[in-house]
Amino acid sequence: MKRTLIELNNISKTYLSTSTPVHALRSISLSIAKGEMIAVMGPSGSGKSTLMNILGCLDVPDQGQYRFAGQDVMALDKDQLAHLRNKLVGFVFQNFNLLGRATALENVCLPMIYAGVSAPERERTGREALAMVGLAGREHHFPTQLSGGQQQRVAIARALVNKPGLLLADEPTGALDTKTSAEIMSLLQELHGGNGLSVVIVTHEPEVANYCQRIIRLIDGVIVSDELIPEASQLKGMGIH
Ligand SMILES: Nc1ncnc2c1ncn2[C@@H]1O[C@H](COP(=O)(O)OP(=O)(O)O)[C@@H](O)[C@H]1O
Ligand SMILES: [Mg+2]
Repeated sequence: MKRTLIELNNISKTYLSTSTPVHALRSISLSIAKGEMIAVMGPSGSGKSTLMNILGCLDVPDQGQYRFAGQDVMALDKDQLAHLRNKLVGFVFQNFNLLGRATALENVCLPMIYAGVSAPERERTGREALAMVGLAGREHHFPTQLSGGQQQRVAIARALVNKPGLLLADEPTGALDTKTSAEIMSLLQELHGGNGLSVVIVTHEPEVANYCQRIIRLIDGVIVSDELIPEASQLKGMGIH
């Protein structure tokens, strides 16, 4: 049996900042195994980003239990939460969120500075990470000198450079054309599972979701379906190498 990375039990999140409370997540239970690749789908406002923020320890639920890599997340204080997040979670966003004034290599190396890795080790690992996403030779390019797909690959290399257990991607192909989206999904498919990396991807595109092994659908803060995609129905990329 696959080992569990994440266990959510009856998680709820209500936003009270507005005049009427918004129940963004209502008693969600979910477990994620090491090495799983999951798509989260659902209409706008259904709670997808709230769920991602909680999974990534950027936000805490106001009810329920959350265990991540054997730790009780709800019992951690702010600093411990930040530590767990930096060590165990990588994030990828729709708009890449690269530093415009930094080269591809500098962008990829940034998380290692915060993690206290030595300069030569950062350079070596950063180059390796760029090669892993098919960008060897682009180390000194700035984001504006790279295509959207290449920028997203830099962002993926950056997210993985500290070897997290979980990669969270909120609409990673939302700004990309169909062909480039397929390339990014092939890449994520190639990278997931190695070293037990679990990947959770928010998308509204069925094509994108079909690269995953499991699809979770949210409506109004509730999981309305959670299905495994048979191996034979999964889209398979060609890889990038
Ligand atoms: N910081 C916030 N304050 C108040 N309401 C919020 C906040 N963030 C999200 N919401 C509300 O919570 C619900 C779920 O939002 P979200 O998780 O962003 O959905 P999705 O990513 O599926 O579009 C929406 O109704 C949204 O308006
Ligand atoms: Mg969202």
